[in-house]
Amino acid sequence: MVSGSERVGRAFVLTNIGELTTNVAAPGDACGTLRGAAVLVRDGRVEWVGSADATPTDVPVVDAEGRAVIPGFVDSHTHLAFGGDRAEEFAARMAGESYAAGGIRTTVAATRAASDDELRARLAALVGECRAQGTTTLEIKTGYGLDVETETRLARLASEVTAEVTFLGAHVVPAEYAGRGDDYVELVVGDMLDAVAPHARWIDVFCEEGAFTPTQSRRVLEAGRAAGLGIRVHGNQLGFGGGAALAVELGAAAVDHCTYLTDDDVTALAGSDTVATLLPGVEFSTRQPYPDARRLIDAGVTVALASDCNPGSSFTSSMPLMIALAVREMGMTVAEAVWAATAGGARALRRTDVGVIRPGARADLVLLEAPTRVHLVYRPGVPLVRTVWKDGAEV
Ligand code: NIG
Ligand code: FE
Repeated sequence: MVSGSERVGRAFVLTNIGELTTNVAAPGDACGTLRGAAVLVRDGRVEWVGSADATPTDVPVVDAEGRAVIPGFVDSHTHLAFGGDRAEEFAARMAGESYAAGGIRTTVAATRAASDDELRARLAALVGECRAQGTTTLEIKTGYGLDVETETRLARLASEVTAEVTFLGAHVVPAEYAGRGDDYVELVVGDMLDAVAPHARWIDVFCEEGAFTPTQSRRVLEAGRAAGLGIRVHGNQLGFGGGAALAVELGAAAVDHCTYLTDDDVTALAGSDTVATLLPGVEFSTRQPYPDARRLIDAGVTVALASDCNPGSSFTSSMPLMIALAVREMGMTVAEAVWAATAGGARALRRTDVGVIRPGARADLVLLEAPTRVHLVYRPGVPLVRTVWKDGAEV
Protein backbone atom coordinates (compact mmCIF):
# COMPACT_ATOMS: atom_id res chain seq x y z
CA MET A 1 0.00 0.00 0.00
CA VAL A 2 1.39 3.36 -0.88
CA SER A 3 -0.41 5.48 1.67
CA GLY A 4 -1.67 2.90 4.11
CA SER A 5 0.22 2.11 7.27
CA GLU A 6 -0.47 -1.63 7.35
CA ARG A 7 3.15 -2.61 6.72
CA VAL A 8 5.31 -1.06 9.37
CA GLY A 9 8.96 -1.99 9.20
CA ARG A 10 11.31 -2.96 12.00
CA ALA A 11 13.50 -0.36 13.70
CA PHE A 12 16.74 0.55 11.94
CA VAL A 13 19.13 3.43 11.58
CA LEU A 14 20.16 4.72 8.18
CA THR A 15 23.57 6.23 8.63
CA ASN A 16 26.49 7.73 6.76
CA ILE A 17 24.12 9.75 4.56
CA GLY A 18 26.17 12.00 2.28
CA GLU A 19 23.38 14.52 1.75
CA LEU A 20 20.05 14.39 3.60
CA THR A 21 17.14 16.48 2.33
CA THR A 22 14.87 16.90 5.37
CA ASN A 23 12.61 19.72 4.14
CA VAL A 24 12.80 21.13 7.65
CA ALA A 25 13.45 24.67 6.48
CA ALA A 26 16.65 26.39 7.59
CA PRO A 27 17.61 30.01 6.77
CA GLY A 28 18.23 30.14 3.00
CA ASP A 29 17.63 26.40 2.63
CA ALA A 30 14.00 25.28 2.32
CA CYS A 31 15.30 21.73 1.82
CA GLY A 32 16.90 21.66 5.27
CA THR A 33 20.00 19.93 3.93
CA LEU A 34 22.26 17.99 6.31
CA ARG A 35 25.61 16.38 5.49
CA GLY A 36 27.02 13.33 7.25
CA ALA A 37 23.63 12.59 8.81
CA ALA A 38 21.73 9.61 10.18
CA VAL A 39 18.00 8.84 10.57
CA LEU A 40 16.56 6.50 13.22
CA VAL A 41 13.32 4.76 12.20
CA ARG A 42 11.00 2.97 14.64
CA ASP A 43 7.36 1.83 14.37
CA GLY A 44 7.07 3.26 10.89
CA ARG A 45 8.02 6.77 11.96
CA VAL A 46 11.17 8.84 12.04
CA GLU A 47 12.29 8.88 15.66
CA TRP A 48 15.50 10.88 15.45
CA VAL A 49 17.59 12.79 12.90
CA GLY A 50 21.17 13.72 13.73
CA SER A 51 24.84 13.45 12.95
CA ALA A 52 26.20 10.12 11.71
CA ASP A 53 28.82 10.47 14.46
CA ALA A 54 26.04 10.04 17.02
CA THR A 55 24.34 7.07 15.32
CA PRO A 56 22.43 4.98 17.88
CA THR A 57 23.87 1.48 18.18
CA ASP A 58 20.94 -0.48 19.66
CA VAL A 59 19.21 -1.14 16.31
CA PRO A 60 20.31 -2.64 12.97
CA VAL A 61 22.34 -0.26 10.83
CA VAL A 62 21.87 0.42 7.13
CA ASP A 63 24.96 2.16 5.72
CA ALA A 64 24.16 4.72 3.01
CA GLU A 65 27.88 4.84 2.17
CA GLY A 66 27.77 8.55 1.44
CA ARG A 67 24.73 8.46 -0.84
CA ALA A 68 21.91 11.01 -0.80
CA VAL A 69 18.57 10.48 0.97
CA ILE A 70 15.38 12.43 0.26
CA PRO A 71 11.78 12.15 1.50
CA GLY A 72 9.59 9.81 -0.56
CA PHE A 73 7.90 11.63 -3.42
CA VAL A 74 4.34 12.84 -2.84
CA ASP A 75 2.55 12.56 -6.19
CA SER A 76 -0.55 14.64 -5.52
CA HIS A 77 -2.19 14.24 -8.93
CA THR A 78 -2.70 10.97 -10.82
CA HIS A 79 -5.44 9.22 -12.76
CA LEU A 80 -4.26 5.61 -12.30
CA ALA A 81 -7.70 3.96 -12.30
CA PHE A 82 -8.56 3.24 -15.93
CA GLY A 83 -8.85 0.56 -18.60
CA GLY A 84 -7.15 0.36 -22.01
CA ASP A 85 -4.56 2.80 -23.27
CA ARG A 86 -4.28 5.46 -25.98
CA ALA A 87 -0.95 4.65 -27.60
CA GLU A 88 -2.42 5.21 -31.06
CA GLU A 89 -3.70 8.65 -30.11
CA PHE A 90 -0.23 9.41 -28.74
CA ALA A 91 1.47 8.26 -31.93
CA ALA A 92 -0.91 10.39 -34.01
CA ARG A 93 -0.10 13.37 -31.81
CA MET A 94 3.60 12.84 -32.29
CA ALA A 95 2.85 12.81 -36.03
CA GLY A 96 1.29 16.26 -35.79
CA GLU A 97 -2.27 15.97 -34.42
CA SER A 98 -3.07 18.24 -31.47
CA TYR A 99 -4.18 17.12 -28.01
CA ALA A 100 -7.89 17.37 -27.26
CA ALA A 101 -9.48 16.48 -23.93
CA GLY A 102 -12.16 14.63 -25.93
CA GLY A 103 -9.82 11.63 -25.96
CA ILE A 104 -10.90 11.10 -22.35
CA ARG A 105 -14.10 9.51 -23.73
CA THR A 106 -12.03 6.75 -25.36
CA THR A 107 -10.70 5.77 -21.95
CA VAL A 108 -14.18 6.04 -20.44
CA ALA A 109 -15.46 3.38 -22.86
CA ALA A 110 -12.53 1.05 -22.09
CA THR A 111 -12.89 1.60 -18.35
CA ARG A 112 -16.62 0.88 -18.28
CA ALA A 113 -15.94 -2.36 -20.18
CA ALA A 114 -13.21 -3.53 -17.77
CA SER A 115 -13.92 -5.87 -14.84
CA ASP A 116 -12.95 -5.05 -11.26
CA ASP A 117 -10.17 -7.61 -11.46
CA GLU A 118 -8.78 -6.07 -14.64
CA LEU A 119 -8.88 -2.58 -13.17
CA ARG A 120 -7.36 -3.80 -9.90
CA ALA A 121 -4.50 -5.52 -11.73
CA ARG A 122 -3.74 -2.41 -13.80
CA LEU A 123 -3.87 -0.24 -10.69
CA ALA A 124 -1.52 -2.57 -8.80
CA ALA A 125 0.96 -2.55 -11.68
CA LEU A 126 0.96 1.23 -11.86
CA VAL A 127 1.24 1.65 -8.09
CA GLY A 128 4.21 -0.74 -8.16
CA GLU A 129 5.76 1.38 -10.91
CA CYS A 130 5.31 4.51 -8.77
CA ARG A 131 6.79 2.89 -5.67
CA ALA A 132 9.84 1.62 -7.55
CA GLN A 133 10.52 5.20 -8.61
CA GLY A 134 10.33 6.57 -5.10
CA THR A 135 6.71 7.67 -4.76
CA THR A 136 5.44 6.85 -1.27
CA THR A 137 2.25 8.94 -1.18
CA LEU A 138 -0.10 8.90 -4.11
CA GLU A 139 -3.36 10.66 -4.94
CA ILE A 140 -5.63 8.81 -7.37
CA LYS A 141 -8.65 10.30 -9.14
CA THR A 142 -11.75 8.71 -10.56
CA GLY A 143 -12.97 10.32 -13.78
CA TYR A 144 -12.94 7.58 -16.40
CA GLY A 145 -16.29 6.11 -15.34
CA LEU A 146 -18.64 9.07 -15.60
CA ASP A 147 -21.65 7.02 -14.56
CA VAL A 148 -22.69 6.22 -11.01
CA GLU A 149 -21.69 2.57 -11.10
CA THR A 150 -18.26 2.98 -12.70
CA GLU A 151 -17.25 6.08 -10.76
CA THR A 152 -18.12 4.22 -7.54
CA ARG A 153 -16.11 1.17 -8.66
CA LEU A 154 -13.09 3.34 -9.45
CA ALA A 155 -13.23 5.13 -6.10
CA ARG A 156 -13.57 1.84 -4.23
CA LEU A 157 -10.66 0.24 -6.09
CA ALA A 158 -8.49 3.32 -5.63
CA SER A 159 -9.27 3.34 -1.90
CA GLU A 160 -7.75 -0.15 -1.69
CA VAL A 161 -4.34 1.34 -2.52
CA THR A 162 -4.40 4.90 -1.17
CA ALA A 163 -6.14 7.11 1.36
CA GLU A 164 -5.96 10.01 -1.10
CA VAL A 165 -8.88 9.29 -3.41
CA THR A 166 -10.41 12.11 -5.45
CA PHE A 167 -13.88 12.08 -7.00
CA LEU A 168 -13.58 13.51 -10.53
CA GLY A 169 -17.03 12.71 -11.90
CA ALA A 170 -16.84 16.16 -13.50
CA HIS A 171 -13.93 15.26 -15.78
CA VAL A 172 -15.79 15.73 -19.08
CA VAL A 173 -19.44 15.43 -20.08
CA PRO A 174 -19.91 11.79 -21.18
CA ALA A 175 -21.18 11.03 -24.68
CA GLU A 176 -24.68 10.08 -23.50
CA TYR A 177 -25.08 13.57 -22.01
CA ALA A 178 -23.69 15.43 -25.07
CA GLY A 179 -25.26 18.89 -25.22
CA ARG A 180 -26.77 18.40 -21.73
CA GLY A 181 -23.89 19.42 -19.52
CA ASP A 182 -26.10 20.95 -16.83
CA ASP A 183 -28.09 17.71 -16.56
CA TYR A 184 -24.85 15.77 -16.16
CA VAL A 185 -23.72 18.16 -13.42
CA GLU A 186 -26.95 17.41 -11.56
CA LEU A 187 -26.14 13.69 -11.74
CA VAL A 188 -22.62 14.37 -10.44
CA VAL A 189 -23.78 16.41 -7.45
CA GLY A 190 -26.68 14.04 -6.76
CA ASP A 191 -26.62 10.26 -7.00
CA MET A 192 -22.98 10.05 -8.09
CA LEU A 193 -21.66 12.13 -5.21
CA ASP A 194 -23.80 10.18 -2.72
CA ALA A 195 -22.35 6.89 -3.97
CA VAL A 196 -18.70 7.97 -4.30
CA ALA A 197 -18.22 10.26 -1.28
CA PRO A 198 -17.83 7.40 1.23
CA HIS A 199 -14.75 6.21 -0.69
CA ALA A 200 -13.16 9.62 -1.32
CA ARG A 201 -11.32 12.40 0.51
CA TRP A 202 -11.42 15.01 -2.26
CA ILE A 203 -13.59 16.35 -5.06
CA ASP A 204 -12.13 17.76 -8.28
CA VAL A 205 -13.52 19.32 -11.47
CA PHE A 206 -11.99 20.00 -14.90
CA CYS A 207 -12.81 23.72 -15.18
CA GLU A 208 -11.85 24.40 -18.79
CA GLU A 209 -13.46 25.31 -22.09
CA GLY A 210 -14.78 22.03 -23.53
CA ALA A 211 -15.23 20.53 -20.05
CA PHE A 212 -17.06 22.49 -17.32
CA THR A 213 -17.77 26.22 -16.98
CA PRO A 214 -16.82 28.12 -13.82
CA THR A 215 -20.53 28.15 -12.85
CA GLN A 216 -20.85 24.39 -13.25
CA SER A 217 -17.52 23.88 -11.51
CA ARG A 218 -18.62 25.94 -8.54
CA ARG A 219 -21.77 23.84 -8.23
CA VAL A 220 -19.72 20.61 -8.23
CA LEU A 221 -17.16 21.87 -5.71
CA GLU A 222 -19.71 23.35 -3.31
CA ALA A 223 -21.71 20.12 -3.36
CA GLY A 224 -18.57 18.12 -2.67
CA ARG A 225 -17.64 20.38 0.19
CA ALA A 226 -21.13 20.04 1.66
CA ALA A 227 -20.63 16.25 1.49
CA GLY A 228 -17.45 16.59 3.55
CA LEU A 229 -14.87 16.40 0.76
CA GLY A 230 -11.85 18.66 0.34
CA ILE A 231 -11.59 20.68 -2.86
CA ARG A 232 -9.07 20.54 -5.72
CA VAL A 233 -9.35 21.85 -9.28
CA HIS A 234 -8.02 21.07 -12.76
CA GLY A 235 -7.68 24.47 -14.35
CA ASN A 236 -5.86 26.76 -16.76
CA GLN A 237 -4.42 23.83 -18.73
CA LEU A 238 -5.50 24.61 -22.28
CA GLY A 239 -6.16 28.33 -21.96
CA PHE A 240 -6.89 31.21 -19.59
CA GLY A 241 -9.99 30.17 -17.67
CA GLY A 242 -11.68 30.66 -14.35
CA GLY A 243 -10.24 27.58 -12.62
CA ALA A 244 -7.47 29.20 -10.62
CA ALA A 245 -9.61 32.12 -9.45
CA LEU A 246 -12.40 29.76 -8.41
CA ALA A 247 -9.95 27.51 -6.59
CA VAL A 248 -8.63 30.44 -4.56
CA GLU A 249 -12.10 31.80 -3.87
CA LEU A 250 -13.33 28.45 -2.53
CA GLY A 251 -10.15 27.75 -0.56
CA ALA A 252 -9.15 24.72 -2.63
CA ALA A 253 -6.10 22.78 -1.48
CA ALA A 254 -4.68 22.98 -5.00
CA VAL A 255 -5.28 24.07 -8.57
CA ASP A 256 -3.49 21.82 -10.99
CA HIS A 257 -1.94 22.49 -14.44
CA CYS A 258 -1.67 26.34 -14.18
CA THR A 259 -0.14 26.60 -17.63
CA TYR A 260 -2.11 29.74 -18.58
CA LEU A 261 -2.40 32.22 -15.70
CA THR A 262 -3.18 35.94 -15.76
CA ASP A 263 -1.32 38.32 -13.47
CA ASP A 264 -4.48 38.48 -11.34
CA ASP A 265 -4.48 34.68 -11.03
CA VAL A 266 -0.87 34.74 -9.85
CA THR A 267 -1.57 37.50 -7.33
CA ALA A 268 -4.61 35.64 -6.01
CA LEU A 269 -2.66 32.38 -5.65
CA ALA A 270 0.19 34.17 -3.88
CA GLY A 271 -2.21 35.54 -1.29
CA SER A 272 -3.84 32.17 -0.63
CA ASP A 273 -3.24 28.71 0.82
CA THR A 274 -4.01 27.14 -2.55
CA VAL A 275 -1.03 25.29 -4.00
CA ALA A 276 -0.29 25.60 -7.73
CA THR A 277 0.51 22.07 -8.87
CA LEU A 278 2.50 21.95 -12.09
CA LEU A 279 2.34 18.82 -14.27
CA PRO A 280 5.20 19.04 -16.76
CA GLY A 281 4.60 15.50 -18.01
CA VAL A 282 1.57 16.94 -19.81
CA GLU A 283 3.48 19.59 -21.72
CA PHE A 284 6.23 17.06 -22.45
CA SER A 285 3.74 14.53 -23.85
CA THR A 286 1.53 17.01 -25.70
CA ARG A 287 4.28 19.29 -26.99
CA GLN A 288 2.78 22.36 -25.37
CA PRO A 289 4.55 25.31 -23.72
CA TYR A 290 5.54 24.60 -20.11
CA PRO A 291 4.07 26.58 -17.20
CA ASP A 292 6.28 29.37 -15.88
CA ALA A 293 7.27 28.07 -12.46
CA ARG A 294 9.78 30.90 -11.94
CA ARG A 295 7.02 33.51 -12.25
CA LEU A 296 4.93 31.68 -9.63
CA ILE A 297 7.72 31.11 -7.13
CA ASP A 298 9.00 34.67 -7.46
CA ALA A 299 5.47 35.92 -6.74
CA GLY A 300 5.33 33.83 -3.56
CA VAL A 301 3.04 31.03 -4.77
CA THR A 302 3.54 27.57 -3.23
CA VAL A 303 4.35 25.20 -6.09
CA ALA A 304 4.02 21.41 -6.19
CA LEU A 305 5.09 19.01 -8.92
CA ALA A 306 3.04 15.93 -9.82
CA SER A 307 2.97 13.38 -12.63
CA ASP A 308 -0.71 13.60 -13.71
CA CYS A 309 -0.13 9.98 -14.76
CA ASN A 310 -3.02 9.17 -17.13
CA PRO A 311 -3.39 7.37 -20.44
CA GLY A 312 -4.00 10.54 -22.47
CA SER A 313 -1.93 13.58 -21.69
CA SER A 314 0.92 12.16 -19.57
CA PHE A 315 1.40 8.41 -19.34
CA THR A 316 4.38 8.50 -17.03
CA SER A 317 4.56 7.87 -13.28
CA SER A 318 8.11 9.18 -12.92
CA MET A 319 8.56 11.94 -10.35
CA PRO A 320 12.30 12.14 -11.14
CA LEU A 321 11.30 12.97 -14.72
CA MET A 322 9.00 15.76 -13.43
CA ILE A 323 11.90 17.19 -11.42
CA ALA A 324 14.25 17.06 -14.40
CA LEU A 325 11.68 18.78 -16.65
CA ALA A 326 10.87 21.43 -14.04
CA VAL A 327 14.52 22.41 -13.77
CA ARG A 328 15.38 22.20 -17.45
CA GLU A 329 12.20 23.70 -18.89
CA MET A 330 10.41 25.70 -16.20
CA GLY A 331 13.08 27.76 -14.48
CA MET A 332 13.15 25.93 -11.15
CA THR A 333 16.33 25.24 -9.21
CA VAL A 334 17.09 21.64 -8.23
CA ALA A 335 16.29 22.41 -4.59
CA GLU A 336 12.95 24.00 -5.52
CA ALA A 337 11.98 21.09 -7.73
CA VAL A 338 12.86 18.40 -5.18
CA TRP A 339 10.97 20.36 -2.50
CA ALA A 340 7.95 20.74 -4.83
CA ALA A 341 7.88 16.98 -5.54
CA THR A 342 7.97 16.11 -1.83
CA ALA A 343 6.95 18.86 0.63
CA GLY A 344 5.00 20.71 -2.09
CA GLY A 345 2.92 17.61 -2.85
CA ALA A 346 2.28 17.19 0.87
CA ARG A 347 1.02 20.78 1.07
CA ALA A 348 -1.23 20.14 -1.93
CA LEU A 349 -2.75 17.22 -0.02
CA ARG A 350 -2.79 19.18 3.26
CA ARG A 351 -0.59 16.54 4.88
CA THR A 352 2.05 17.27 7.52
CA ASP A 353 3.15 13.66 8.10
CA VAL A 354 4.79 13.13 4.69
CA GLY A 355 7.20 15.03 2.42
CA VAL A 356 9.49 15.78 5.37
CA ILE A 357 12.09 13.89 7.41
CA ARG A 358 11.74 14.93 11.04
CA PRO A 359 10.84 13.15 14.29
CA GLY A 360 7.22 12.05 14.17
CA ALA A 361 6.91 12.05 10.37
CA ARG A 362 6.20 8.84 8.49
CA ALA A 363 9.42 6.99 7.68
CA ASP A 364 9.01 7.42 3.91
CA LEU A 365 12.58 7.62 2.63
CA VAL A 366 14.39 7.28 -0.69
CA LEU A 367 18.05 6.33 -0.89
CA LEU A 368 19.51 7.57 -4.18
CA GLU A 369 22.24 5.89 -6.18
CA ALA A 370 23.95 9.28 -6.17
CA PRO A 371 25.89 11.53 -3.79
CA THR A 372 23.47 14.48 -4.09
CA ARG A 373 19.92 15.26 -5.22
CA VAL A 374 21.38 17.29 -8.11
CA HIS A 375 21.97 14.00 -9.88
CA LEU A 376 18.18 13.57 -10.31
CA VAL A 377 18.40 16.39 -12.85
CA TYR A 378 22.00 16.04 -13.94
CA ARG A 379 21.39 12.41 -15.03
CA PRO A 380 17.88 12.48 -16.57
CA GLY A 381 16.34 9.13 -17.42
CA VAL A 382 18.78 7.16 -15.27
CA PRO A 383 17.11 5.05 -12.54
CA LEU A 384 18.74 6.59 -9.47
CA VAL A 385 16.25 5.34 -6.87
CA ARG A 386 18.16 2.62 -5.03
CA THR A 387 15.99 1.80 -1.98
CA VAL A 388 12.51 3.00 -0.93
CA TRP A 389 11.05 2.73 2.58
CA LYS A 390 7.33 3.38 3.16
CA ASP A 391 6.26 3.57 6.81
CA GLY A 392 9.71 2.22 7.64
CA ALA A 393 9.25 -0.92 5.52
CA GLU A 394 11.37 -1.49 2.44
CA VAL A 395 9.12 -1.64 -0.64
O1 NIG B 1 -5.17 16.10 -16.19
N1 NIG B 1 -7.11 17.64 -17.95
C1 NIG B 1 -7.88 16.73 -17.79
N2 NIG B 1 -7.58 15.46 -17.53
C2 NIG B 1 -6.34 14.82 -17.73
C3 NIG B 1 -6.21 14.29 -19.11
C4 NIG B 1 -6.92 13.03 -19.22
C5 NIG B 1 -6.87 12.35 -20.54
O2 NIG B 1 -6.46 12.91 -21.59
O3 NIG B 1 -7.26 11.18 -20.52
C6 NIG B 1 -5.20 15.74 -17.34
O4 NIG B 1 -4.35 16.08 -18.16
FE1 FE C 1 -5.19 15.45 -14.36
